[in-house]
Amino acid sequence: MSNAPIDIGRRKFLTTTTAVVGGIGMAATAVPFLKSWSPSAKAKAAGAPVEVDISKIELGQLIRVEWRGKPVWIVRRSDETVKSLQDTDDRLRDPSSEEAQQPSYATNATRSIKPQFLIAVGICTHLGCSPTYLPDSFSEQVEGVPSGFFCPCHGSKFDMAGRVFENVPAPLNLVIPPHYYVNDNTVMIGVEKGETS
Ligand code: FES
Repeated sequence: MSNAPIDIGRRKFLTTTTAVVGGIGMAATAVPFLKSWSPSAKAKAAGAPVEVDISKIELGQLIRVEWRGKPVWIVRRSDETVKSLQDTDDRLRDPSSEEAQQPSYATNATRSIKPQFLIAVGICTHLGCSPTYLPDSFSEQVEGVPSGFFCPCHGSKFDMAGRVFENVPAPLNLVIPPHYYVNDNTVMIGVEKGETS
């Protein structure tokens, strides 16, 4: 230890410098905290509604879009398909959509706003596999029903309104996401009309 007299001026300088450095350290740690606290643009985008051009979807065609990391199907149904929906009511678990798997404006016979379009989350309500769309060969799964969705994981079956058939593991109809039509060619998925995202 040195016997040199204490240099008061130097000690004061060191104390001040340490305080300043400490202050900078605090500021530096505060910034990341604030950043992680407020939702990032990426996170906002991940939950944002999706606008889809539906003008080019052909009869019987299914297109997939992603909303909140989930596949959402948009299928253009023919008049014949829409009419035939009522023919299988007695083979479905929840034909009238009594379970809350859709918004109120899709709680109807076609589970849709516009009967010609089925818009549904393409995730099986059993354990979350994505069912396969069988536009022409569904009758191999359910006799007399030409088109529908078949889940390859454990064999659940859904009709062209996403309603689940009886005697399969899936307990509920497919989910209909919130949506509205911006105009005849465009649908907004993931938000109700008049609601901001
Ligand atoms: S996950 Fe679809 S039947 Fe099991």
